[in-house]
Amino acid sequence: MFLSMNAEKKILVLHGPNLNLLGSREINIYGHMGLEELNGLILKEAEKIGLAVNCFQFNSEGALLDCIHSAPGKYSGIIINPGAYTHYSIALRDALAGVHLPAVEVHLSNIYAREAFRQRSVIAPVVYGQISGFGPQSYLLALRALQGIICGL
Ligand code: DQA
Repeated sequence: MFLSMNAEKKILVLHGPNLNLLGSREINIYGHMGLEELNGLILKEAEKIGLAVNCFQFNSEGALLDCIHSAPGKYSGIIINPGAYTHYSIALRDALAGVHLPAVEVHLSNIYAREAFRQRSVIAPVVYGQISGFGPQSYLLALRALQGIICGL
């Protein structure tokens, strides 16, 4: 977990299933950066632009749902990489739709350039927007996007 205390607005960053394996998992697709290093980059960028972040990774759908349910009142927005749940989890979609927090869906890989089953996101219709295909930068772009949304830009 990474927490920056000084920033005004706090963002929940959620990494979904198998993202704990970053750095060793399909490096031709997801690259060499591990989750810890990625969280470090996210924290650094957040601090730079005056946001606080908490980063969590869960493999189970239930843990992701619980974390989303408890987000209102604690966070101003959500960045989520739902991993494979992107493509079929109506429960995750309903949780994001139910909490009334701005959310951005991110993917390291460009899901539209991959297998047909990855080219559909059931999450995309209930989030502000989706950033897909920029590797670790997808999360950093999402931070900037959320900051703009929170500030009413
Ligand atoms: C992913 C893309 C998904 O299709 C896949 O199941 C993942 C990672 C990405 O970040 O590119 O686990 O969300």
